[in-house]
Amino acid sequence: MAITDYLPKDLFAGKTVFVTGGGSGINLGVARCFAALGAGVGICGRTAERLESARGELEALGARVATAVADVRDYAALEAALAHAAAEVGPIHTLVCGAAGNFVAPAEELSANGFKAVVDIDLLGSFNAARAAFAQLKETRGNVVFISAGQSFTPYFAQAHVGAAKAGIDQLMRNLALEWGRYGIRVNSVAPGPIEGTEGVRRLAPADETFHRRFKATIPLGRLGTAEEIGQVAAFLASPLASYVTGTLLVADGGQNLPGSGLLTHLIREAMAKGS
Ligand code: COA
Ligand code: NAP
Repeated sequence: MAITDYLPKDLFAGKTVFVTGGGSGINLGVARCFAALGAGVGICGRTAERLESARGELEALGARVATAVADVRDYAALEAALAHAAAEVGPIHTLVCGAAGNFVAPAEELSANGFKAVVDIDLLGSFNAARAAFAQLKETRGNVVFISAGQSFTPYFAQAHVGAAKAGIDQLMRNLALEWGRYGIRVNSVAPGPIEGTEGVRRLAPADETFHRRFKATIPLGRLGTAEEIGQVAAFLASPLASYVTGTLLVADGGQNLPGSGLLTHLIREAMAKGS
């Protein structure tokens, strides 16, 4: 099934979505969903080649596309990228803040600068994008979708930096929803679970068949998600279907972060199968 099988192809016609970190992975999947539903698309990231390759994919879906090399930690560069997208495609109606960094590092080994790098990209970068897009969002009575993660509300081993950054994003989301509701701007987050074929999964999970089989067994739906499934959720939140939804964290993780869903369930089922 493609998203256009169940949502109208012109759902976002005449609207522009801007996706930070939109050149790859989940964020590109989100951008593809909006493009398939008629939106114009702006994307930024640090790597020109990655953005140009993404442009090809999005144009093939019929979208007008604006790309800009911009590091989300650099406010002036982001402002310029957003102004460029508005001039080329149209004022931003939906801002998706997806740029992020991750690596596995136990807290006692993580340097202060390593912690700062992730918080700067994820949290400060998300504030920068929302702040820089505010004037356009106010004009369009638009909305923001932050790409969060399960680490925001579930502690993961060797992920203190990511947990702090993503929890910060979700609280920023609630504050902005509270403050910007008076302008008709809605602000929400999506927390994806593990998404197949992405850099995030490559960094967190060893490329080992046994590990992946056991990993899937810790997810109630028994599989990894797809970038398109996160695009569907972002499209829902950005659409009139969610016109009264703001300040919400929507978890799309196959149940991975349900308390007790993982190893404990596995252990209990193993014990039951053994009859103990
Ligand atoms: N383990 C521990 N520390 C690490 C690390 C790792 N694997 N990778 C980087 N760091 C530390 C560095 O050592 C440095 O700290 P130091 O100065 O004390 O040595 C700090 O993080 C910054 O590293 P740097 O390479 O300068 O950061 P950057 O801004 O160029 O890159 C990263 C940011 C580190 C997050 C990089 O992995 C990145 O660009 N990621 C983007 C893609 C991604 O992570 N995708 C996954 C989905 S979110
Ligand atoms: P990804 O492909 O590496 O996506 C990150 C994107 O952000 C890249 O295109 C990267 O491009 C860009 N980026 C990184 N640092 C940047 C910076 N400083 N300024 C501007 N752009 C920057 O990884 P992904 O796994 O798909 O992750 C996408 C999002 O989903 C992230 O927010 C992540 O936390 C979240 N998430 C992922 C998973 C998962 O299973 N993968 C699960 C939960 C949440 P450049 O390097 O070219 O800049």
